[in-house]
Amino acid sequence: MVTYTRAFADIFIQENKAQILSKYRLNYHLMSEYGWMNDPNGFIQYKGEYHLFYQHYPYKPVWGPMHWGHAVCSDMINWRYLPVAIAPDMEYDKGGCFSGSAIEKEGSLHLIYTGHVLTGPDKEHDYVQTQNLAISTDGITFNKWSDNPVIPLLEIPEGISKKDFRDPKVIERNGKYYMVLGSNDGAGNGLILLYSSEDLITWEFINVIAKSDGHMGDNWECPDIFSMGNRDVLIMSPQRVAAQGHDYHNLHSTMYMIGTFEAHQGSFQYEQYYPIDYGFDYYAPQTTLDDRGRRIMIGWMDMWESDMPTQEGHHWAGAMSLPREIILSGDQLLFRPIEEIMAYRNNPLSLENILLDGEQNMGEQGDSYEMQLVFEPRDAVELGVKLRVGEGEETVITYSTDDRLLSLNRDRAGIGPKGIRRTAIELVDGELALQIFVDRSSIEIFIQGGQKVMTARIYPGEESLGIIVFSKGRCMVKSLCKWDLMR
Ligand code: FRU
Repeated sequence: MVTYTRAFADIFIQENKAQILSKYRLNYHLMSEYGWMNDPNGFIQYKGEYHLFYQHYPYKPVWGPMHWGHAVCSDMINWRYLPVAIAPDMEYDKGGCFSGSAIEKEGSLHLIYTGHVLTGPDKEHDYVQTQNLAISTDGITFNKWSDNPVIPLLEIPEGISKKDFRDPKVIERNGKYYMVLGSNDGAGNGLILLYSSEDLITWEFINVIAKSDGHMGDNWECPDIFSMGNRDVLIMSPQRVAAQGHDYHNLHSTMYMIGTFEAHQGSFQYEQYYPIDYGFDYYAPQTTLDDRGRRIMIGWMDMWESDMPTQEGHHWAGAMSLPREIILSGDQLLFRPIEEIMAYRNNPLSLENILLDGEQNMGEQGDSYEMQLVFEPRDAVELGVKLRVGEGEETVITYSTDDRLLSLNRDRAGIGPKGIRRTAIELVDGELALQIFVDRSSIEIFIQGGQKVMTARIYPGEESLGIIVFSKGRCMVKSLCKWDLMR
């Protein structure tokens, strides 16, 4: 059997990273230095810098025994890689160091993660999972706790899956630590478990705080819980949610619920749940609270079992979304790009009051930019913008005024997965405002000030750089601003 170590992983990455093909590499989003990346882990501000860890298989651009990659940054955009933080090198995590979170205690950085262990030949079914601790005093070198696991199999309560028991997010409340974990009831319903601890080492099960009503996925992954104002928010990534109208069309989804969390009693009361993202590629988001009081969320900008063209010959796969600031607005959340991104703007373009009736090629070229558009539909039945336009290629955002649906169509976006996603959007004061981020092989659309977001990976040719605004019927583009984004 291969023994994976941090040192071996670091050497391998340094020796091989020159092979990476730059074609679809993103400019201002985080990717692994080499090999595979999935979920964000351990997102935290520690000793003044933002740390982000990630699920990482450094040897090939495919999922494999998980390591934790590690990057730090002062602005969440210009990341710098640090050595691999943890490798699957112990009995209790030899199948992989799965997702988890970070918390600072007495000046040390504590990582709490899931140890994955295979128990038989069927990788899909034969496994067990426990919760483990690794500690660092400098934020770079982590030592696994000598008495891992801190939550062994025995502490899984009755009626809960004996194998899906993962992705601990630890928070502090009223001087106590609380951990939420994703699982299911073994009968097709995802759920969230709550544990508590005084010291991060001894944990006590409190309760199941949320559970699928039968339509919310058969297993829940990557939970996170936090307060905003006087409300509490639970987010998680439910697996295999069946489509509900235009929502939940991906294999796996993301959801948030706003409610009331009583940590001590172990209850979370909520009324409604909503998708976090309405596009194709957004999963396993995690949040942190920074020293400016902002709640910031970052997600994996890909989807399981969706074709990832860079896996063939490019030596890398997987990227993180832009960090998004979460804002509570009434009974819903708004998601907005962090303002730090503005420091990377170059070559500004600003146009106003373009009267449209048909297509207008903006002559603007680019593969890494931010664009802000405000449309006033007037008598148009359809309007929108085509991006990454080239020989037979286009990624199309369309708003149709009859049914008030915004769609993102990547059927002709290039190579890679196709499809269309739609979501209902109301005009605000008669206007539609889009803030769009394009970055080589990604697009993120923040709609109406962050009311909804659509995220997708796209793989157009390098020459497909055009931008076209269009309408069917008369429409006013009240403003179009664009900046190249360079890091
Ligand atoms: C979510 C997930 C987690 C798990 C990790 C393994 O994408 O399946 O539940 O910890 O990825 O890489």
